[in-house]
Amino acid sequence: MRNLDIHSNFEEYKGIEELSASDQELFRSAVEARDKAYAPYSRFSVGAAVRLDNGLIITGNNQENAAYPSGMCAERVAIWSALSQHPGTKISKLFITARSEKKEVTRPVSPCGSCRQTLAECEIRQEQPIEVFFTGETGIILKASSVRDLLAFMFDNTLL
Ligand code: THU
Repeated sequence: MRNLDIHSNFEEYKGIEELSASDQELFRSAVEARDKAYAPYSRFSVGAAVRLDNGLIITGNNQENAAYPSGMCAERVAIWSALSQHPGTKISKLFITARSEKKEVTRPVSPCGSCRQTLAECEIRQEQPIEVFFTGETGIILKASSVRDLLAFMFDNTLL
């Protein structure tokens, strides 16, 4: 037996003002999307904004359903919207933010496991890492330089 240490790396920003003007714009798009979420059941609104290689921004937000599992996360709405409208254009960045009606979200909101796997497929397919920024309503912003930092032992299609 031997131990394997797997490392992930994240950059931490104290506030939006530490980001580039372009990343601040992506953040504002995620906030705008978040505030249009349909989240009457959880009262937890998530916004996601994707930056394409050609500079375009595509957004998404969580869409809930009375049949709970039929709802969808903001990240997958944004990614699939980008992939379906702009097939062949690479995704360079994703910004995620969230707000709750129950309490202030002060910690970064990271994508759920299914969204990470979806992002992994996209990153592998486009052969280019996706930078993932995530934050709460207030507080620090974390940035992963690749989906690989968010999903150790990702399932990838070379196994099939
Ligand atoms: N949610 C997202 O949109 N993204 C995530 O990464 C985690 C959770 C949504 C799903 C549901 O509508 C609400 O947040 C509460 O789980």
